[in-house]
Amino acid sequence: MTEPQPLALPTAFLNGQFVPVEEAKISPFDRGFIFGDGVYEVIPYYAGRGLRAKEHLQRLQRSMDLLDLANPYPVEAWERHIAELLKRNGGGDQAVYIQVTRGVAKRDFAPPKGLTPTAFMMSNVLARPSQALYEKGLNCVTLDDFRWGRCQVKSTALLGAVLLKHEATQMGADDCVLFRDGYLTESSASNVAIVKNGVILCPPKDNFILPGITYDLMIELAQQHGMPLEMRKVTRKEVLNADEIWLTSSTKEVIAITTLDGRPVGHASHAGKPGPLFWRMLDHFQTYKQSLQRLPAAAE
Ligand code: PDD
Repeated sequence: MTEPQPLALPTAFLNGQFVPVEEAKISPFDRGFIFGDGVYEVIPYYAGRGLRAKEHLQRLQRSMDLLDLANPYPVEAWERHIAELLKRNGGGDQAVYIQVTRGVAKRDFAPPKGLTPTAFMMSNVLARPSQALYEKGLNCVTLDDFRWGRCQVKSTALLGAVLLKHEATQMGADDCVLFRDGYLTESSASNVAIVKNGVILCPPKDNFILPGITYDLMIELAQQHGMPLEMRKVTRKEVLNADEIWLTSSTKEVIAITTLDGRPVGHASHAGKPGPLFWRMLDHFQTYKQSLQRLPAAAE
């Protein structure tokens, strides 16, 4: 028997109040529950310093704008509430989850005007992948991306991603690499880039992928360190013949995919292992993370 996992760190935030996570209750009439009518963010904090927290809050705003959803707080208030949540949950490295839904109303597809949005936050311990996992990499399968046409919105309506990840794990894989009309999109909850002949190739930020904050950081680090990179459509054939495949997200940071559809990724000495450019990027990423510690913490 496995021990029941705690839902999250002990304190949550609900509509302006800090409450024990088990006591954070919302109405079943909340449109987030009924329709998945809401948006979310996951922001990584390392010893209280947010990794691109402002950019996450800006993306939260863009997601709300695309759904015509009112933001309950200005950025400064979000930052204050996040700092308090981090403090109440004991500091250290935490992933802060923010969710805003359109609020409580009689069930009707058309969103009524003037609803009060529901604002919820919780946090979890943020554990970076272990060295053993970095060295092993992930085992993924390719799947057809059947999600909707607004993947740039970080919506809580995640059934497409849930079913894709379910299919991948049922096949014994860690996750999936998705294709739409023969082109690479992303993974169930991460962006994907490949390396071919020393060039990092990453799909353009259109309505079929989430514009990842980690993805942007990866692009910036590549540019800063003279690693050639092209942002363009990537074909299925290119992915299947890639020298390296990387997955990026706020919780996974950067990690290599070393097996795809049961075949080792890459060639020669690093077939089925993370490639040399991955190790360089991971190093730049860790150095960037360490540099955050020179900034003031969100919560001391
Ligand atoms: N997922 N693509 C999708 C579909 C995602 O859900 C995510 C993030 C990303 C990576 O974005 P970022 O680098 O900003 O975290 C790409 C988060 C971590 C989640 O749902 O838990």
